[in-house]
Amino acid sequence: MSIKFDNITNELNISNATLQNWIKTNCLTADRNGFITTESYDYFKENILGKNKLNKRANKQYFDKPNIAFNINKNDDANKNAVQYEQSLSIAERNKKGIYYTPNSSIDEIFSALPTLKETDTFLDPCCGTGNFLIKALEKGIEPENIYGFDIDKTALKIANNRFYQLTGQHSNNIKLVNLLEEKHEQKYNFIFTNPPWGYKFNTQQKNNYAKKFNNGIKVDSSALFVLVCLNIVQKDGMMGVLLPDSFFNISTFKSVRKVLLKKAIIQLINHNKPFDGLQTKAYSFIVKNSNTLTNIKCKTQTSEHTRKQIDFIKNPNYIINFDATKIEAKIISHLYSYPHQTLTGKAQWGLGIVTGNNAKHLITTTKNNYKPIFKGVDIEKGKIKKHNFYIFDDFSKLQQTANKKLYLADKKIVYRFINSNLIFAVDEKQRYFLNSANFLILKQDTLFIEDRLEITEEQLVFLMNTEIMNWLFKKLFRTHKILRSDLEKLPIFNEFFKIHNNYCEQDLHAYLNIEKYNGTFRVKT
Ligand SMILES: C[S@@+](CC[C@H](N)C(=O)[O-])C[C@H]1O[C@@H](n2cnc3c(N)ncnc32)[C@H](O)[C@@H]1O
Repeated sequence: MSIKFDNITNELNISNATLQNWIKTNCLTADRNGFITTESYDYFKENILGKNKLNKRANKQYFDKPNIAFNINKNDDANKNAVQYEQSLSIAERNKKGIYYTPNSSIDEIFSALPTLKETDTFLDPCCGTGNFLIKALEKGIEPENIYGFDIDKTALKIANNRFYQLTGQHSNNIKLVNLLEEKHEQKYNFIFTNPPWGYKFNTQQKNNYAKKFNNGIKVDSSALFVLVCLNIVQKDGMMGVLLPDSFFNISTFKSVRKVLLKKAIIQLINHNKPFDGLQTKAYSFIVKNSNTLTNIKCKTQTSEHTRKQIDFIKNPNYIINFDATKIEAKIISHLYSYPHQTLTGKAQWGLGIVTGNNAKHLITTTKNNYKPIFKGVDIEKGKIKKHNFYIFDDFSKLQQTANKKLYLADKKIVYRFINSNLIFAVDEKQRYFLNSANFLILKQDTLFIEDRLEITEEQLVFLMNTEIMNWLFKKLFRTHKILRSDLEKLPIFNEFFKIHNNYCEQDLHAYLNIEKYNGTFRVKT
């Protein structure tokens, strides 16, 4: 059941902006169709509205509101408690602890990988929250006494236990207070399915402890640590299914965990799009079998179902699991990487655009003494730089963050838009300043060591980066709206092409790479 925005703004005599604020701060929940859920509205009216005056200032405070004390009564419907409990947590608390419970539709998709069960099969959700995965395991026929749930949140555990009891008539000793990352695990489980906390804000001591304990170059991120621990406590030939932010599958932070994961047999990869109401983050899941026999992986994206070979991901730069790309697209990617190429790694000095800390204060639109033009990312177009609209005081001491001024003043630098899904590069020979919506690199020219030099010119590099094929490759590999140095450094720079083409164009590059455009994508020419 849901309610139109207009009905609420009229009933409460509030503006649309206020309503949006309440949604943003999780006071109200909008469903996927853009309505407010009746449940959240009723809860809001009963527990929040009237107790606090939600004026503009209160809205701000509300973002960091303390959790409302949550009472569980003996006769409560535990399923209802589960929904209400999540809604009672402040957005600050949820973000700090990565608490976003999983909607049923995503849980169903993950459980669809469950094979025929044996009576002795055990199931664990290592951070079960209010028990969504545990209840699904029960429904799927796992014996109640073989279902385990851990969490560090006592209230959530109580609700999970109540739900379990209301369904089975049995009290469980296995749904209990356990910190997965601290526990000495003696038991192994046949199935571990979960949605672990993402980006849990550890304190410094925890960070240091975990860095030591999981010492293999892995960034101390809660979701990555959960994956590692679970891989150790899943039975041989057992199965693990984990819902994660899409960034886990491609950003370099998670490279070393992906490497560990790719040693086991991934069975399925699922794109869940944006499963959490009110949260823009995309979620993907993997289902992996604790076996070293690698097979074809079933990939479910928003638009297609296809299979991919695990070896493709193992060969990808940074072990990127770009399963949105089809088999044919994967073939083109490895085809491109089979051509002689250099990469930008170690061959350039990199610089970030200027962070003023307050553009309204530091930028002006008509020039004055000692002010210089400053450019934004949008002023960069493929191969050229448009006219600027702003000026900045030519003394960086009051600015929040800048690169060494010498770098902006280099004879020749290559600038590119930072927040963008396309590669948009240009050469700057006029020592321009750029804001942080643009970044830049300066090719190493005067190094003694040939291997530290890119064999092509700035203009050739800019041409290459702006081509359709490089843009296609970048998107298929990295699926990002940020153009990161670490990703750029992984792209193949086809230096040999420029040895045979003095005058070049995109068609020449396609011919050189033996590819052609086909149905809006590319294919290898036969
Ligand atoms: C994203 S929620 C998921 C809950 C449940 N698995 C679901 O999907 O509905 C993450 C849960 O991890 C729990 N948690 C955080 N750190 C934990 C830890 N070190 N050990 C066990 N649970 C933890 C949080 O309390 C929270 O309930």
